[in-house]
Amino acid sequence: LVDVFADPAAIAAAAVDRIEAALAAAEASPTLGVATGSSPGAVYELLRAKHREGTFSLDGVSAVALDEYRGLPAAHEQRYRTVLRRELVGAARTGLREEDLHVPDADAVDPETAAVHFEGRITALGGVDLQLLGLGANGHIGFNEPGTGFDARTHLTTLEDSTRRANARFFHGDLSQVPQYAMTQGLATILEAREIVLIAVGAEKAEAVRAMLHGPVTADCPASVLQRHPRVSVLLDEAAASVLD
Ligand code: F6R
Repeated sequence: LVDVFADPAAIAAAAVDRIEAALAAAEASPTLGVATGSSPGAVYELLRAKHREGTFSLDGVSAVALDEYRGLPAAHEQRYRTVLRRELVGAARTGLREEDLHVPDADAVDPETAAVHFEGRITALGGVDLQLLGLGANGHIGFNEPGTGFDARTHLTTLEDSTRRANARFFHGDLSQVPQYAMTQGLATILEAREIVLIAVGAEKAEAVRAMLHGPVTADCPASVLQRHPRVSVLLDEAAASVLD
């Protein structure tokens, strides 16, 4: 399912509809997969607004992050745990409890064990009911850069230069501050979510959107693997949809 909207607020409203339905339909206690970066920003803003007016809460819901940078100081404002805490955690935000926010331990001395532990967390939570995704201009989802195998599970990865340049805006434009490594859910992990909502905004994403939806399923465009998932909503603005036929 592909939908094109006028602006990020309209995309957020559609995404929140999907989130509310998925959390309500979850059999056990629900688990929401959360992304970072700018794409989900309006979604989190709307969830906070709904929480303020008393119509939505993530209290009792588990949240599982897609990825985390390796090598940032614990208190760094761009660590994804910090970002997600700022966006979602606490009664003043969405009601998500700190202990229910699960983020890969990217700085672990033994990343392989940390990755296996994170996978075990997801399994113990009963899997992800709905995974939110953004899309890299190079076709990445999570930090699964082009060339990543479709069978990849949570792993440490090296960020492409283009990804680091794109994310330098979160580091005051200073590329040297952007980490080189991250731990990410693998493509196989992401595909196990029961439902996926991918958001892409802006002309820089248009070519990746086309390759994801209409190109071959290939590691050159990791997001193309979503063609194999039975329940994906792709929510776009007009610029991101501009090279679709
Ligand atoms: C973030 C993530 C990335 C971003 C992607 C798009 O957790 O895993 O895949 O979703 O790089 O980033 P934005 O939304 O900032 O354009």
